[in-house]
Amino acid sequence: MARSIAICNQKGGVGKTTTAMNLAAYLAILGNRTLLIDFDPQANATSGLGVKHNPEETIYHAILGGVTPDRVVQRTHLANLDIAPASQDLAGALIELVNLPEREYFLRNFVAHVAPYYQFILIDLAPSLNLLTLNGLLAADEVIIPVQCEYYSLEGLSQLLQTMELIQTNMNHPIEIGGALLTMYDKREKLSREVAREVRRRFPTQVYDIEIPRSVSLAEAPSFQKPVVLHAPQSAGALAYEQLAKEVMNQFPDRSAPTYVPPTIPQYNDVPEIPMEFEEREINDFPKTDEEFYERYFVFYE
Ligand SMILES: Nc1ncnc2c1ncn2[C@@H]1O[C@H](COP(=O)(O)OP(=O)(O)O)[C@@H](O)[C@H]1O
Ligand SMILES: [Mg+2]
Repeated sequence: MARSIAICNQKGGVGKTTTAMNLAAYLAILGNRTLLIDFDPQANATSGLGVKHNPEETIYHAILGGVTPDRVVQRTHLANLDIAPASQDLAGALIELVNLPEREYFLRNFVAHVAPYYQFILIDLAPSLNLLTLNGLLAADEVIIPVQCEYYSLEGLSQLLQTMELIQTNMNHPIEIGGALLTMYDKREKLSREVAREVRRRFPTQVYDIEIPRSVSLAEAPSFQKPVVLHAPQSAGALAYEQLAKEVMNQFPDRSAPTYVPPTIPQYNDVPEIPMEFEEREINDFPKTDEEFYERYFVFYE
């Protein structure tokens, strides 16, 4: 079974999608069959990799529309890298899921179907803490938290680590912290150096060694619809993500990725087991903002 890794931070613009795309690309280049699941309605990873797909066959249609995984998963320009694309439809999933039993486990069902065909599955999450992100975290064995080297990042990181604890205890899901990843690091900026040092001091065992530098190549690669390895493979940003891929591959040796997986997902004759008949639930009882979600949802599980 693949190691499934969510890329999570409820803050936007911290480098989640950049990390998801480029870590996935280097894991693939280093010989791992890798699937990137775009689980953000903004679909930046899908457009950033230039994936052409049928608009009726996205991750949304896989989890709620009965479309089978073999039709949703697309190949990319890299031989070992596949993607499950997203589209704005995914925003609708948030509303539809609310009324369904087992609403937190729809992505996990999908991941269970495809896990035998990959060594790594990366899940790019949206910048929020809602039912979609919860689906992403419950479908993952591990989480990587990109942290931008700026002033408020430390608070955010402590909060996120607490959220992971709640998921471990209240939701009984043994998600491992792969680590915090320092992104947009600029060694010429004092603030950047200080934030990096402070994050490492506070969380000595939970930060990846490599710092991802601020790099124009990383920022412009998506406009060429490529991961950085196909755009500027010698740039500092590219080399950093290659290093990260090696660190990730060496983590958690007791549940390391399988050495062999079948090359393609077979075509399923059966529609995946997605429950289609549901008990009614009060839609009003569901939190509307991230803050309400955080306060009410976890209490729900106590
Ligand atoms: N290391 C980096 N150096 C320069 N620009 C970056 C870097 N990482 C991300 N960016 C840019 O910052 C913006 C936000 O990054 P993104 O990965 O989309 O964040 P998120 O997915 O967390 O919202 C994008 O325009 C991206 O190209
Ligand atoms: Mg993003």
